Amino acid sequence: MQIAIDGPSGAGKSSVAKAVAKELGIVYVDTGALYRTVGYFVRSRGIAREDRAGIVSCLPHINIEVRYENGAQHVYLNGEDLGDRIREPEISMYASAVSAVPAVREFLLDTQRRIAETNSVIMDGRDIGTVILPHADVKIFLTASIEARAMRRTKELAEKGIDARFEDVLREMRERDDNDRNRAVAPAVAAPDAIPMDNSEMTVEECTAAVIALAKRAAGGVLSV
Ligand code: DC
Repeated sequence: MQIAIDGPSGAGKSSVAKAVAKELGIVYVDTGALYRTVGYFVRSRGIAREDRAGIVSCLPHINIEVRYENGAQHVYLNGEDLGDRIREPEISMYASAVSAVPAVREFLLDTQRRIAETNSVIMDGRDIGTVILPHADVKIFLTASIEARAMRRTKELAEKGIDARFEDVLREMRERDDNDRNRAVAPAVAAPDAIPMDNSEMTVEECTAAVIALAKRAAGGVLSV
């Protein structure tokens, strides 16, 4: 079983995907964490976000390993688990910048496909239904109004102890949306066969139930994963 969930940041992809994975007993793959990890490394080298050649020059020095420990994904950068350090707002901006560089996408492609080959997965990102898993059993394009998304992200950051103002989160989200949607490679757009879902007015539970229903329907009523 392969479920692809794409959509802009703050649409609730990870909350929904985590809940679906738990319910169906499949693996949740957060692909944004991989771009964040590359972004983290680039920033730690003092390279500017706009410096594409600098970003590419980092790649030979990056080894990324993804492990699943007690159902949770851990991404190791050169042997170190970065935890929530990749969630900082500045790293979000770096992740968006590095994700527009074709060599970075190519670099992360195999890792993502390999996980999906060896596990039943629900994978979230921006190009899962279009590039990574074009034959996924279920494809969903999840979105919500930008205000709802910025509000959720501000709360999420506060829960992680990261202090961020709503106005700043909103502005950065707009910039990221533009970058991710308008880039030349693998832009964050819905696959033609993806089901659009706007969850501005839905709870995580409602959205999760809707995705599970779609997965069951795709599996012909009986879900074997
Ligand atoms: O989902 P996220 O906010 O953690 O993703 C961080 C950035 O990585 C986002 O701005 C776009 C990029 N990304 C991508 O280009 N393709 C993916 N499959 C996942 C994330």
